Amino acid sequence: MLPMASGARRSKETHAATTAGNQTYILKLRKPAKRQFKNRGENFFPVGSLSEDLSRLFPRENDIPARFRMNSCLDQNRILINGEIIPWQGRVADIFSPIYIRKSNALTKKRIGSHPQMTAKEALRALDTARRAFSPGNGRWSSLPLSLRIECVERFLERLGGLKEAIVRTLMWEIAKPYAELKNEFERTVDYIEQVIKVAREREKNSRILRREKGIMGIVHDEPYGVGLCLGPYNYPLFETFSLVFPALLAGNTVIVKTPKFGVLFFDLLLESFQDCFPPGVVNVISGDGKTIIEPLMKGGGIDVFAFIGSRLIANRLMGLHPRKNRLRSLLGLGAKNPVVILPDADLGIAVPECVLGALAFNGQRCAALKIFFVHQDVQEEFRKSLSKEMTKTRIGMPWMERVRITPLADPDRIPYLHKLVEDALHQGSRIGNENGGKSVQSLFFPTLLSPVHSKMKIYWEEQFGPIIPLVSYTKIEAPINYIIHSPFGQQLSIFGTKIQPLAHLVNSVKSQVARININSKCQRGPDLFPFTGRKDSAKGDFSALEIMNFFSAKTVVAARENELGESLFGSLQRVRSRAQK
Ligand code: G3H
Repeated sequence: MLPMASGARRSKETHAATTAGNQTYILKLRKPAKRQFKNRGENFFPVGSLSEDLSRLFPRENDIPARFRMNSCLDQNRILINGEIIPWQGRVADIFSPIYIRKSNALTKKRIGSHPQMTAKEALRALDTARRAFSPGNGRWSSLPLSLRIECVERFLERLGGLKEAIVRTLMWEIAKPYAELKNEFERTVDYIEQVIKVAREREKNSRILRREKGIMGIVHDEPYGVGLCLGPYNYPLFETFSLVFPALLAGNTVIVKTPKFGVLFFDLLLESFQDCFPPGVVNVISGDGKTIIEPLMKGGGIDVFAFIGSRLIANRLMGLHPRKNRLRSLLGLGAKNPVVILPDADLGIAVPECVLGALAFNGQRCAALKIFFVHQDVQEEFRKSLSKEMTKTRIGMPWMERVRITPLADPDRIPYLHKLVEDALHQGSRIGNENGGKSVQSLFFPTLLSPVHSKMKIYWEEQFGPIIPLVSYTKIEAPINYIIHSPFGQQLSIFGTKIQPLAHLVNSVKSQVARININSKCQRGPDLFPFTGRKDSAKGDFSALEIMNFFSAKTVVAARENELGESLFGSLQRVRSRAQK
């Protein structure tokens, strides 16, 4: 269907119908408005230039530049178990791109591949091989000196580098993230792993130092915990999944990777690299319905480390199934509703473009996106108008287009949810403040500026994870401060202002409520050496390249009394360790 927000004008010429079964969605198209859609030598559409017929944003097959086409489907019909790649004969799930293809007067779903729908049986087999490979802490992988584990990871990175173009293109078709952003995500993944390698080397060096205190001498060193279960999100399927998997491996754990909800196909391209670079059972990739394959893993109690980025409800349900709750270590990246506070003295020339970028980059599908805006009444009108104007420059289209920001959404459930949020706000007195706001065509949802927004509206509290910008007007600074204090989330905050006193007052009032306060800039995770965490329901643990090894490794102390026997045994122990490290 073609969902439209209530109040949005449904064009007479546009109607929608679904033909069940054949995945074809019929849209009667208006004639193209030549003025707006003729080739202007620029391959993007600024939001402000669109006609009523928004479905023309989707390409015809021939419109797609050759280097970005996905000419054949990637049907994953094999799995990696215990170091062996074996044919998969079980059920598979088809994957359709959120990028619809225009064919005469129809928008057609494009099938881009399929992936195995594993069952509890395969998941438990993966767990068994991971447990045996860990064997408990004496397996081949965990016994390897760090330098050799690093060699394996570096070999993998080399292989990964050779697959860059294929991985980026596959991801582009699967989650419709702009191509340029996916290239950055790829490079950031490699940088992150290299940073973690540096940190691991440094920790290893320090672990060789013999400490003496109060008649006791000791060496503190890192040990793995066991089997890590790593689950990344669909907005960063590569970066956020691998930024869990590789630190876990470097620390000597064995790993089960559950592929994200969307952004699955590229794992198939990597099976040989996992097989060749790591001993059998060390890396296990499982895919399919989360409930079917993850719940049995957690229920059995065989998972030692749970590293998860996604929804709080799912995390809590899964952790609740584990029979040994105190043994399970968890690193959690959960929801966020990062507020922006525009102070009366804010420089709107800085604030407005930064806010648009912070709210709309990758359709607002970032955990660190700006999700609620508190604007001082004195500048509210000016801010709203400039924001609306700035939004018209935001480029909407297909992910291969240059500098595009708004692209199709991977999750088909998101569009009706975003409409519900908009409708609820409109029903309670909000208005849409930008052209085409509140409209959608299949997987494309248009950036939507909503104001005024108040605390009775769903959008005030709920994480939209989509391109909606809600503006709340305030007169006293206590309003945003109270919001931040009472919010269940506590990831980050952005403040825009130029005078030190009000800035300092706000920072001091909320610094215990969020994990990062950004002054005159959007919220973001990077640089990846900075702490990345959250307070309250937003996160548990720090995901930064500097700290993540602390999560995946346990400190073990080997200590003895400072006497002749102790000295001699420790001397030999250290010589053995240094030889092993070479
Ligand atoms: O989705 C989570 C974060 O937003 C990832 O980092 O700030 O670079 O987008 P980012």
